[in-house]
Amino acid sequence: MEICWHHFKKLPSTNRKAMESITAGTFHEGDVVWTDEQWQGKGAGENSWESESGKNLTFSLVLEPDFILPSEQFLLTQIVSLALRQVIKARMNGQECLIKWPNDIYVAEKKIAGILIQNVIKGPVLQASVIGIGLNVNQKIFVSDAPNPVSIIHFINRETDLLPLLKEVIQQITVFYNMAKDNRQKIFIQKTYLKYLFHKGIWASYSDINGMFEGKITDVDNYGRLQIKDLKGDIRLYGFKEVTFEI
Ligand code: BTN
Repeated sequence: MEICWHHFKKLPSTNRKAMESITAGTFHEGDVVWTDEQWQGKGAGENSWESESGKNLTFSLVLEPDFILPSEQFLLTQIVSLALRQVIKARMNGQECLIKWPNDIYVAEKKIAGILIQNVIKGPVLQASVIGIGLNVNQKIFVSDAPNPVSIIHFINRETDLLPLLKEVIQQITVFYNMAKDNRQKIFIQKTYLKYLFHKGIWASYSDINGMFEGKITDVDNYGRLQIKDLKGDIRLYGFKEVTFEI
């Protein structure tokens, strides 16, 4: 994959900019849209994404994952979460870094990065995917009502240069993305995602439409649904936004 950098001083949203290039048919796999300042960053669902100007990574990578069926699109979430986790972990001075289902990156029970993937499906294939990443790097104070944000600087007490970090993340995504083209490696990716899943195998509190309950994450299926075993031993299956972690 050839990376093509598109840098902007300011943008409302890098995901929106990348999606526009897909609608216009002017995109290529490997396009990276990144900006120093994003004032309408999109988060998951209806949320927005806070990022102080010049302090963090806010970017979107365009992929053409024609080897992934729309029904398997959770694999992209796994690829990107693992890549991001690995790069952050390497800069954490030994602190563990985990993936909170489906694709938040957590250090010390706090959210350090978020991923927003927008897929464009054409007939039976994924025509394009916009992989939006917000990684908190040098921002010390957060003003929005985001529940528990944290930055790399909180763990290492010095500023990190943004461009080398961005290049590392893209490089690592490329590694996992190329691995996923091979069926055996695909299974490795799915297993490794489970290995680094936040709260996997430990009793914790969750809430769903029926209220709070104690449960233990046991698995994530290939559609990306979270399996939680409750105190009665029943397995509950959740899609995105159907369950909340009570941290
Ligand atoms: C989340 O809510 O956890 C997902 C956050 C994703 C934020 C990133 S920042 C760069 C890209 N452009 C956007 O508008 N959103 C994503």
